[in-house]
Formats: sequence, structure tokens, C-alpha cells
Amino acid sequence: MGSQALAYMNLVNVTSAGPACGVKAEPRVLPNDHAGSLMWNKVNGTQNCGSRMPLGGGALSQEKIDLIGEWIDNGAMND
Ligand code: HEM
Repeated sequence: MGSQALAYMNLVNVTSAGPACGVKAEPRVLPNDHAGSLMWNKVNGTQNCGSRMPLGGGALSQEKIDLIGEWIDNGAMND
């Protein structure tokens, strides 16, 4: 996540590999499908593995969660 390029490379169309979610082999970000994207489920609190994100902090605002969902549903473009 050190840069936008690295974050994008590690998120979009990449399968989960963490200690809790690796076994689920879910796409972290699946373009055009926010509900099928682990990253969105993790910030929305609807994940089926591990914890809600951001860990240890407060949940993201609904506005931010929606913004992430819209970005995914618009193709998760690298822009
Ligand atoms: C909005 C910010 C964040 C997002 C979008 C996010 C997203 C994610 C995602 C998608 C995974 C699953 C990765 C995989 O299994 O391949 C994950 C796992 C994890 N994240 Fe985060 N994260 C955030 C913030 C944080 C913060 C601040 C911490 C630590 C202080 C943290 C600690 C962890 C840990 C320990 C795991 C592995 C355990 C688990 O899946 O619950 N994350 N995160």
C-alpha cells in the first residue's frame, strides 16, 4: 500500500491472502461488484472472515463506504 500503484496492484482482481481470509480465496476488489469485493465487505462490516476494517479505528462513514462501493461498481478504474 506504499503507493497508489502498489495498492491498486495488490487489490484489484487479487485474491485474499491474509491470515483470516486467505482460506476464503475471495477477490479483494472485484470490478463492478462491490458486494463481491472483500475490501468493501471489510469496511461495511459484512465480511465473512476476520475483522471489520479499519482494525482498531472507528468504522468509515457511510459516505466513504458508499464512495468505495461506487468506485468498484464503476469498474474499479486506476484513476
Ligand atoms: C480503511 C482501511 C483498511 C482497509 C480497507 C482494510 C482492508 C483489509 C482487507 C481487504 C483485508 C483482508 C486481506 C486478505 O485477507 O487478503 C484486511 C485484513 C487485515 N487488516 Fe485491514 N484494512 C484497513 C485498515 C487496517 C488497519 C488500520 C489495520 C491495523 C491497525 C489492519 C489490520 C489488518 C489485519 C491484522 C488483517 C488480517 C486479519 C483479518 O482479515 O481480519 N487493517 N484488511
